[in-house]
Amino acid sequence: MSCSSCCGIERQFNRKVAAGDLRRYRKRGPMRTAQMLVDALRAEGVEGLTLLDIGGGVGALQHELLKAGMECVTGVDASAAYLEAAAEEAGRQGHTDRVRHRHGDFVAVAAEVAPADVVTLDRVICCYSDMEALVALSAERAQRLYGVVYPRRTWWTRLSFVLLNFIHCLRRSPFRAFLHRPDAVEALIREKGLTRRFYATTLVWQVVVYGR
Ligand SMILES: C[S@@+](CC[C@H](N)C(=O)[O-])C[C@H]1O[C@@H](n2cnc3c(N)ncnc32)[C@H](O)[C@@H]1O
Repeated sequence: MSCSSCCGIERQFNRKVAAGDLRRYRKRGPMRTAQMLVDALRAEGVEGLTLLDIGGGVGALQHELLKAGMECVTGVDASAAYLEAAAEEAGRQGHTDRVRHRHGDFVAVAAEVAPADVVTLDRVICCYSDMEALVALSAERAQRLYGVVYPRRTWWTRLSFVLLNFIHCLRRSPFRAFLHRPDAVEALIREKGLTRRFYATTLVWQVVVYGR
């Protein structure tokens, strides 16, 4: 990750944002698409499995999947503020001993991150410019299931990403959102030996689970 991207992520997902997201999660539970991903993974059977959650934010997926019986979680996130919030929530929910966190750009640290039964990226691919590296390195670490939530490429998502990036530009924020081509994402995942098991969409997002 270039310095401007990593500073952009730290600035975008700062303490204030993390505190707000944590409050929201405690009040209302996971976002709709995160819940869809949790349900699709649970339907595959996750009890006793290990999870690698990349860019997990306040850890909604991690907490929900641990409650569903997953054995342990490794969370890798480029935002220190989010990792602090995820650790605080893990403590509150009483599963600190089953969670390990690592701060950093997953692409940069991937060689030191062990494979897991299940790998998830919930709304992460669109925060990262080098989609090819992020998807390839994460997919090859998925021993059984690979779950992703990322934006559809429609006229309205294209327009909103242009507007979003324009706002970041006006605010002089180095953070940018990326609307990667779904066919390119899909092709990379298939190349890593994974096939689709679940697919659902909302207006903006697609929720996909692949299996080996
Ligand atoms: C939009 S937030 C999503 C957070 C959470 N998954 C959710 O859906 O609420 C994007 C997350 O991806 C993380 N992220 C983006 N690129 C990353 C990378 N290359 N390595 C690790 N984390 C990354 C950010 O730090 C942030 O936590």
